[in-house]
Amino acid sequence: MLTAPTIPMQSPSTYCARAARGQRCSVVVLAWGLAVLSAGCADGAAFAVVEHERPSASVTDDSGEPTQAAEELSALTRFELPPGFPPPRIPATNPLTDAKIELGRHLFYDTRLSGNGEQSCASCHEQAKAFADGQALPTGSTGEVHHTNSLHLVNAVYQGTLTWANPLLTSLETQIFVPIFGEEPVELGAAPFRIEIIDRLAADAYYQAAFPAAFPERETPLDWDAVAMALASFVRSLISGNSAFDRFVYQGEAQALSASAKRGMDLFFSEEFECHHCHGGFNFTEASVHANTPFEAMRFNNTGLYNIDGEGGYPLTARGLIEFTGAPSDMGRFRAPSLRNVAVTAPYMHDGSVETLGEVIDIYAAGGRVITDGPHAGDGRLNPFKSGFVVGFALNERQRGDLLAFLESLTDEAFLSNPRFANPWSAGEDGATAAETLTRAPQ
Ligand code: HEC
Ligand code: HEC
Repeated sequence: MLTAPTIPMQSPSTYCARAARGQRCSVVVLAWGLAVLSAGCADGAAFAVVEHERPSASVTDDSGEPTQAAEELSALTRFELPPGFPPPRIPATNPLTDAKIELGRHLFYDTRLSGNGEQSCASCHEQAKAFADGQALPTGSTGEVHHTNSLHLVNAVYQGTLTWANPLLTSLETQIFVPIFGEEPVELGAAPFRIEIIDRLAADAYYQAAFPAAFPERETPLDWDAVAMALASFVRSLISGNSAFDRFVYQGEAQALSASAKRGMDLFFSEEFECHHCHGGFNFTEASVHANTPFEAMRFNNTGLYNIDGEGGYPLTARGLIEFTGAPSDMGRFRAPSLRNVAVTAPYMHDGSVETLGEVIDIYAAGGRVITDGPHAGDGRLNPFKSGFVVGFALNERQRGDLLAFLESLTDEAFLSNPRFANPWSAGEDGATAAETLTRAPQ
């Protein structure tokens, strides 16, 4: 259903703790191209809702490429947007269809996609963990350890850029080739097996029917481009928007949030705690874009996790945006992750170096992380490239518990167990490897 959501107005102050106290607060972009502005906050007045007309003509993305129209999206798929979610950008060159989503799901869970048959996408992206993997750093199919934490795949369709810090990677169709063919580090390790893997898939009865059904317009329905298009479609379908927070804010369930979580929400959106500047909006990251995004938001920030040399240094293995731009001030700048389902995606940060949400909160309260010994020792609070929004704040035990309760209210249990996102192969459930799945039929 693609009807315009109603913006909840029952408790405006929950978005801006200071508003209630008559102080200035900032823009919170919620959804559907609606900017919910705190225009009247200075007098303690209610939020003003500024409604931008939804463009009816075809929409384009950043590069001017046309995107799939919302009407077509709802006609072609069972894809349903949760209340409060804006229409996403989907490239017109790969319109979303149920046939592609379902094919992509089979590929996502298929270990035949890795060179040695040891791994599938799901090895590092597990549904019960919101498609993260519970490890600090994942190990690829040939035993190489990755330099960054496996990102959860939650509402990735809304990510303006993909991965932790690459500003150039904007297309899922392109990004998906990184884990498949990438050699530094090896993930699925498919590069030496390009032809063999396509032959493996072509020998499977399910794929023999599913590729032509998903790509009726393609002369060669089964090739690597089609694999990437189907996988991208499955990843786009991983939409999470039914947490207790959503039920409270978007679905009018006044009892959905505990009193503690409500207090935590006030802290999260307050100007003392500053979280919402980087983790704001319907997707809890300012790095999100959608079909009607009025402006491109701030995307990469340094949160003061390291300061190895006293000059802002981050470990050489993962230094953030600087690796792509070469600009010294981009040291340690990473994309703010969406905080949806964050309670199940531990450990945290780009290198999985923070184990619990409580520790994350303590680091922000201190205004950065202090590491006292070892090769990474340094005072992150003094990192010269740290964002001006990470300045620290006083935090008592009750507030810490409230903020935790709020972050936990972002867990969407239905998403974590939705059978439409689960492993469709009977073999996968008992951990079978490619050799076995090769001979088994899908359920
Ligand atoms: C060995 C573990 C591993 C495997 C296998 C793997 N991934 Fe990932 N995935 C990661 C890591 C680590 C990142 C973060 C990469 C970075 O920041 O450079 C990531 C990032 C992503 C992202 C970007 C998400 C975002 O929010 O920007 C997508 C999409 C993704 N993976 C999809 C897939 C798909 C599809 C497959 C199978 C073809 C796959 N991954 C296989 C570990 C893995
Ligand atoms: C200046 C922008 C900014 C502010 C303000 C900010 N964050 Fe973050 N947050 C980030 C970035 C960037 C990362 C990733 C940093 C990294 O990995 O090096 C992050 C990571 C996180 C993570 C880990 C998520 C994951 O999946 O690993 C949590 C949890 C989090 N922030 C919560 C908060 C809370 C709570 C607040 C307010 C107290 C807050 N953030 C304030 C930018 C910000």
